[in-house]
Amino acid sequence: MPKITYVSADGDLHVVDVPIGTSVMRGAVGTGIDGIVAECGGNAMCATCHVYVPAEHAASLPEMTAVEDEMLECTVAERRATSRLSCQLRITEGLDGLVVRLPEAQE
Ligand code: FES
Repeated sequence: MPKITYVSADGDLHVVDVPIGTSVMRGAVGTGIDGIVAECGGNAMCATCHVYVPAEHAASLPEMTAVEDEMLECTVAERRATSRLSCQLRITEGLDGLVVRLPEAQE
């Protein structure tokens, strides 16, 4: 099962085995990691699952849709070039070792 590392805004690390076919958001919410709220349950409608993904992992991520791009304009924390909605990041074998950083605030 792919391992995803979540790094909180204050530097805490959580390494989670996340099942293929679920999402980076589900891996956090399902294990009680603070920092991802996911108010809309993964429908790209709330932007409270915002994460920062290091540039070196960008190539292994699914392409950003127009809807995700639009919702990223609604994040509470600053949008950066590395911003993604974690509910839109489906887990595949290729994401094993992914490290995501959580913003200071989601709402
Ligand atoms: S969970 Fe709402 S946009 Fe991702």
